Amino acid sequence: MTNPTDKLIELVNVTAGYGKNIVLRNVNLTINTNDFIGIIGPNGGGKTTLIKLLIGQLKPFTGEVIYHTKGNGSLIGYLPQASQIDKNFPISVREVVLSGLLEKKGIFGGYSRQQKSVALDLMKQVGIANLQNKSIGQLSGGQLQRALLCRALISDPQVLILDEPNTYVDSNFEGELYEMLRKLNERMAIVMVSHDLGTITSYVKTIACVNGTLFYHQSNQITNEQLAAYNCPIQIIAHGPVPHTVLLDHGKENQHNHNH
Ligand SMILES: Nc1ncnc2c1ncn2[C@@H]1O[C@H](COP(=O)(O)OP(=O)(O)O)[C@@H](O)[C@H]1O
Ligand SMILES: [Mg+2]
Repeated sequence: MTNPTDKLIELVNVTAGYGKNIVLRNVNLTINTNDFIGIIGPNGGGKTTLIKLLIGQLKPFTGEVIYHTKGNGSLIGYLPQASQIDKNFPISVREVVLSGLLEKKGIFGGYSRQQKSVALDLMKQVGIANLQNKSIGQLSGGQLQRALLCRALISDPQVLILDEPNTYVDSNFEGELYEMLRKLNERMAIVMVSHDLGTITSYVKTIACVNGTLFYHQSNQITNEQLAAYNCPIQIIAHGPVPHTVLLDHGKENQHNHNH
């Protein structure tokens, strides 16, 4: 059994970037069992860079990334930002989902009957089983996000890491997605990047604001004053019973994102 406060991944004094360019300085973050961390911050602030450090895709210039592997299950399931996916890559939805098991393929390169049945169950859960033989180029943005979610979940990870999973997702599925995450959080830690702080605050337990460095906020309630203190150009706007957010500095990448 894992202890509720067991450490799973730690970033210790991490400074990182690309080439000679530093994107994140002195980042400290611990992901514990049961965590549900919302990552917010402006475009280009380094959210995706932080995720790449967590999953080991990017090595820090200085500092350490420490993985605390428990048992022989998979540690990390990862849903990349949709803009990083090459939709022209000729691969079917089913193959995308199963590719989340890459290291666990049998020695003959095939997937077991059991793995295929888990893949099908996941696709059914998110309503894309009927699309399993389609190539990813034929999917809508929202359908692709669902396939990527299945891919992230198929290894039943201890930490589920999601980079803007709600981009392109219709509001119907968005609600379902968050409910699904809430259930999953009973058995796995979740780290989710989102532009939409207002919606996520009712699901996440803590918030990290990433803007050249990381400010950890030990609660899911955050005020405009605190955001300003973190130098995080996101504003909370009252929006009916649910607070809503806008980015104060719209970068080009999220221009399509205004309709939240
Ligand atoms: N592969 C890369 N090579 C060079 N610079 C990059 C690369 N990826 C991101 N950057 C730069 O790093 C900064 C942070 O980007 P990113 O982590 O994607 O921010 P966010 O996810 O918060 O929008 C930006 O200035 C971006 O241009
Ligand atoms: Mg990003």
